[in-house]
Formats: sequence, structure tokens, C-alpha cells
Amino acid sequence: MAEKYTAAVITVSDKGAAGAREDLSGPAVAEYLRGAGFDVVYMSIVPDERGDIKRELIKCADELDAALVVTTGGTGFAPRDVTPEATLEIIERPVPGLPEAMRRASLEITDRAMLSRSQAGIRRGSLIINLPGSPKAARENLAAVAGALAHGLDTLRGPAADHPPGI
Ligand code: MTE
Repeated sequence: MAEKYTAAVITVSDKGAAGAREDLSGPAVAEYLRGAGFDVVYMSIVPDERGDIKRELIKCADELDAALVVTTGGTGFAPRDVTPEATLEIIERPVPGLPEAMRRASLEITDRAMLSRSQAGIRRGSLIINLPGSPKAARENLAAVAGALAHGLDTLRGPAADHPPGI
């Protein structure tokens, strides 16, 4: 991509946040994004708590102004999986095509792709995308959309764009 866009990676995991499990997904996603030309400026781990996830997403969008904000984890059916709900509560404009493309590509790999409840959307100048929690699944989902991100971000953050708060 012509401009190097910034990216933030948020791992959503109770065990990861408690230090009870090494976070492999966050670093795997960050490595993928660097390879795709992004400047990964921020990484964090939060528990599967709606308030914590929302706060972190808002920080990445409103304070850090990261062009891309990617979450990994918490998109399945476990009772504490609430990343999509937290995301829907803070985005201003949904981008359904990204999770559609991720699930379509992932269904070629596993039937279980239909169990992903990932969402994506725009808040001010940031594009937010939910990825599944395993490093393999996160990489596979990212690979399905990575090629189209630069054009979307060029449009979102181009010279004429300004990003007033929408909510
Ligand atoms: N997508 C791809 N490409 N590869 C996978 O292995 N795993 C699925 C799905 N999407 C998977 C995938 C599974 S088993 C689940 S439960 C959901 O993502 C949600 O994952 P999460 O609960 O870790 O967020």
C-alpha cells in the first residue's frame, strides 16, 4: 500500500489477560499485519468483559487514531464471548462485507467458520475488525480481507476525509 497505515491489535481472552495463558494470537496477527505493510503501534490484552473491550476499542480509535483496529478472540458461542456485541456498541458504521468475506473464505477450510460471529465497522477514522481467537484462524480470516483493506483505508482516511464523532 502507498501509505503505511497504523494498526492496533487487541487480544480478548480471560486467560490471556490473567497471565494464565501465553497470548499467541496477538503476536501472530501483528506479524501478519507487519507483513502486509502495516505499522503495528499498539497491542493489548483484555478479558472477555464488554466494558473492557469497548474501552479499549474506543481508545484505539479516538485517542490513538489507529487506521486499523483488529481484535482476536471472543467471537464464538461460549457464554463469555462478547467481542461482537462490544464492537457493535461502539462502531458508527457497520462494514458487513468484511465478515461475510472472512466466513466465505473460511468455509472452504472448515465448516466451523459458520460459528464465527465476527463483526466489522468504522468508528471515526478507524476500521475495526473482529477475528477468531486461535492464531491459525485469525491468520486465515485476515488473509481473506487483507488485499482489500488499503483501498478502504485510502477512502476512509484520504486527504479530503475528516472524522467527526458520529455518536
Ligand atoms: N475460521 C477459520 N478460517 N479457521 C478456523 O479454524 N474456527 C472457527 C471460526 N472461524 C476457524 C474459523 C471456530 S471453531 C469458531 S468457534 C469461531 O471461528 C470463533 O472463534 P473464537 O471463539 O476463537 O473467536
